[in-house]
Amino acid sequence: MKAVVLEKKGLIQIRDVQKDLTLGADDVEVAIKACGICGSDVHYYTHGKIGPYVVEQPMILGHEASGLVTAVGSNVKHLKVGDRVCLEPGIPRFNSAETLAGYYNLDPELTFFATPPIDGCLCEKIVHPAAFAFKLPDELSYYEGAMVEPVAIGMQAATKAEIKPGDVAIVFGAGTIGIVTALCALAGGCSDVIVVDMIDEKLKIAASYNNIHALNLKTDDIKAKVMDLTAGRGCDIAFECSGAKPAILNIHEQVRPAGTVVLVGMPVDPAPFDIVSAQSKELTVKTIFRYANMYPRTIRLIRSGALDIKRLISKVYDFNQAVEGFDRAAGGSLTDVKIMLDLESLGINA
Ligand SMILES: NC(=O)c1ccc[n+]([C@@H]2O[C@H](COP(=O)([O-])OP(=O)(O)OC[C@H]3O[C@@H](n4cnc5c(N)ncnc54)[C@H](O)[C@@H]3O)[C@@H](O)[C@H]2O)c1
Ligand SMILES: [Zn+2]
Repeated sequence: MKAVVLEKKGLIQIRDVQKDLTLGADDVEVAIKACGICGSDVHYYTHGKIGPYVVEQPMILGHEASGLVTAVGSNVKHLKVGDRVCLEPGIPRFNSAETLAGYYNLDPELTFFATPPIDGCLCEKIVHPAAFAFKLPDELSYYEGAMVEPVAIGMQAATKAEIKPGDVAIVFGAGTIGIVTALCALAGGCSDVIVVDMIDEKLKIAASYNNIHALNLKTDDIKAKVMDLTAGRGCDIAFECSGAKPAILNIHEQVRPAGTVVLVGMPVDPAPFDIVSAQSKELTVKTIFRYANMYPRTIRLIRSGALDIKRLISKVYDFNQAVEGFDRAAGGSLTDVKIMLDLESLGINA
């Protein structure tokens, strides 16, 4: 079958691959129809590694996918051939202590699409555990289905923040993760979310949503806006979604006493955090790593309209133009949020 393969750092090819499609009793076979390009795919393309994960052999890219169910295993009850699904890309061991405790995303032996040496899903078909395939309502397109993956990160952050109705939040970083986190915070009950970045093009996209106040770090008075929206107290919650050292170091400044900080961004090197300043306000500091049990809620909120993510799909490339899509993503166009690959033209429907 055809696949988008990262042969080595700097070289992506569309070519034929052999893929095992043996269907277990608890599996589904899915013809992939859409797949988003993620910052991590691009990083493997341009740098050949992320932390300890090094591309040492050809790897199929992609982990943000949706598709059509073409076969179901004998134990599968919740899906049938012809259903449209999105796929959760991280598969834990089903009997690990972490999985049994409910935080399966932290299973040390979890395998995740397109994380070396595990192949991703940018190919014609894959076989996947049915428990990690979620039916898309008719109202959702395959593109929106593929967006569930990045949005689930914002959902995990908003859930961890334990938002109360009417909370005011601040988000550092207006990249894909920052914007979806801001949207999830609003959907979770925040009245207002301040989004901070230094790139006006990114802020413009954030500002297109009601109740998001997009501020430029370099030219706007962030403190004044925070005080204005919170009667002088500070934000209830701060989400760090930039991974930038200065944002992490100073994040406590914008949070009220006894407020919450959620660290989402992953700095490339260890980053300092101002412990004493956080202590003096008794801040609750939380971290997230991907998500667990977020797909069903994310799908429901997209369907309800509370998470309007269509406008985050900046550009769609056909499967045959995948290399152009990755090159555009690697070029870092400031107006792009999510670049999507469309696999419908492959015409795999059975
Ligand atoms: N915890 C997780 O599970 C998880 C999952 C996915 C991504 N991430 C991390 O989330 C972060 C964001 O991902 P993304 O894809 O949106 O990246 P991105 O590069 O598209 O966005 C980051 C944004 O932060 C802005 N920024 C830089 N310095 C800033 C500062 N000092 N203050 C405010 N904004 C600043 C940049 O201009 C950029 O717009 C990354 O660090 C990524 O590794 C974490
Ligand atoms: Zn991703």
